[in-house]
Amino acid sequence: MTIKDRTVLVTGANRGIGQVLVEEALRRGAKRVYAGTRQPLAHLDGRVTPLTLDVTSVSQIQRAVDEVDTLDVLINNAGVAIYDNLSNLDVIEQHLAVNFLGLLKVTHAFLPLLKHSKGALAALAALPVIPAYSISKAAAFNMTQSLRALLAGQGVTVHAVVLGPIDTDMNRGFEIPKASPESAALRIFDGLEKGEEDIFPDPASQSIAEGWRTGAVKALERQFAAFVPESAANLG
Ligand SMILES: NC(=O)c1ccc[n+]([C@@H]2O[C@H](COP(=O)([O-])OP(=O)(O)OC[C@H]3O[C@@H](n4cnc5c(N)ncnc54)[C@H](OP(=O)(O)O)[C@@H]3O)[C@@H](O)[C@H]2O)c1
Repeated sequence: MTIKDRTVLVTGANRGIGQVLVEEALRRGAKRVYAGTRQPLAHLDGRVTPLTLDVTSVSQIQRAVDEVDTLDVLINNAGVAIYDNLSNLDVIEQHLAVNFLGLLKVTHAFLPLLKHSKGALAALAALPVIPAYSISKAAAFNMTQSLRALLAGQGVTVHAVVLGPIDTDMNRGFEIPKASPESAALRIFDGLEKGEEDIFPDPASQSIAEGWRTGAVKALERQFAAFVPESAANLG
């Protein structure tokens, strides 16, 4: 899939990686970019349509769906990362609400449009570092694998973006080598355009890419995908 002349929706589009994914989609000639944000957003490019979209709000998700006519690419980028030690259940629930259930609700809501366009769906996973965050991202990653198998027969491709550290607010103050959001956004769209199932867009994640693609977990995912009955794929 090429991004040129396509319609792209990015959640969490006001800052960090989401913001540069919007710019990269525009640079690649996207016809329309829906920018999902919790706070009002203004953008100089007329191809950008802001959408009020807290991914935990069912009513906002529904209103956003009503505003979108066609959709080729949905990028589930919105995420939270709060540093914790698993002692506070509220923190775990908050991560699950945004990083896992939010992603699932937004996906469900836009799936009919993606099926119609035979589009693509991407989620930004992580290399686990902090516990509640890691649990929510592991759940999201697992869900991504299931969605890939469930939607395979319906023309919607599902991509996992496996990120190493990227220089955004999320890991401000964490003194480790980080890639720029711009370079990550560039490689995320390169991966989408090349049809890569799992996209490794920065030097840290790149270092495990080959091992991942030829590893046991990937082999199991492929084996299990073959067991999905056609009747199971009635999402959306
Ligand atoms: N940075 C990294 O090193 C790294 C590594 C691995 C994975 N990731 C993943 O990449 C994605 C983007 O991360 P980032 O580094 O760009 O983080 P960031 O700079 O902290 O930005 C997070 C974005 O998510 C939005 N968001 C948070 N809660 C939301 C909600 N309930 N509804 C809608 N939007 C919400 C934020 O909006 P507000 O401005 O309204 O808060 C913001 O736009 C996340 O899924 C993250 O887990 C990042």
